[in-house]
Amino acid sequence: MKKVKKAVIPAAGFGTRFLPITKAVCKEMLPIVDKPTLQYIVEEAVDSGIEDILVVTGRNKKILEDFFDYTPELDALLEQDGKKEFLEISQKMEKLVNMYYVRQKHPTGFADAVMYAKAFTGDEPFAILLGDDIIYTDSSLKPGIRQLIDCYYDTGKPTVAVMNVNDDDIPKYANIRGRNIADDRIDIDLIVEKPAVQDKFSNDAVIGRYVVESDIFDIIVQTPPSPKGEVYFTDALQLLAKQNRLIGCRFAGKRYDAGNKLKYLEANVEFALRDKSLGKQFREYLLNLAEKLR
Ligand code: G1P
Repeated sequence: MKKVKKAVIPAAGFGTRFLPITKAVCKEMLPIVDKPTLQYIVEEAVDSGIEDILVVTGRNKKILEDFFDYTPELDALLEQDGKKEFLEISQKMEKLVNMYYVRQKHPTGFADAVMYAKAFTGDEPFAILLGDDIIYTDSSLKPGIRQLIDCYYDTGKPTVAVMNVNDDDIPKYANIRGRNIADDRIDIDLIVEKPAVQDKFSNDAVIGRYVVESDIFDIIVQTPPSPKGEVYFTDALQLLAKQNRLIGCRFAGKRYDAGNKLKYLEANVEFALRDKSLGKQFREYLLNLAEKLR
């Protein structure tokens, strides 16, 4: 079985939910504490054994490429001033992984973005990570996408990440039906994009982590468009489910929705609380604030 060494990150969306900041700063560069959301995703991929990452970008996303590039002027200054710690932070990203970029001509959705990866992935299986979904795992757990890669190696079938959600959240995600084959694995026979709550099959939602094989490109091409005219990636996955070739992995870890303003703020608070240098003081501040707000 071929190893999963490549990952694709679709990142062409306009980020309208975060206007006005996204007029000039793309949403993937919005920080959680001091790192852009995209860095969390890239680090998860790298910690999972991924060696090459293709980001499917669009116009107005140049700062994203700059972020993963060398910054020789800054680094020279930090070196000269003996600021080793900052130099390491500055150089971490450029050393981390091979980054590739391709521009999606029109941001016409997730399946179309995946099609741009065809030449990059060739005939290898690959991971897909959506930038709005951040999965925090402590040191006792494997990174999110690694858990899916292992599931793919064990079952030999494409795998999606699954999380239990409340009824209110059903219409935000792909919804699945299937049979438990292990505590954390589901053999999926049906997957539907964002059903109304009364049409749900379960409370199992798909979140933005996938491992697929190279036949996904042909499958996307064969998938009929939705009534809105867009081919849904979820509908392509349904063709896999029909062939009994789709597994859901109930990953361990905490997932944050960085695409939603309130959840993004929550992520900032929780990551700040975990931060070695800020956490203690920030916790005191929050406790004082909570007292005042009582
Ligand atoms: C996308 C997918 C959806 C999936 C979700 C996970 O939706 O289309 O199937 O459940 O990501 O976050 P979006 O959040 O882009 O609307």
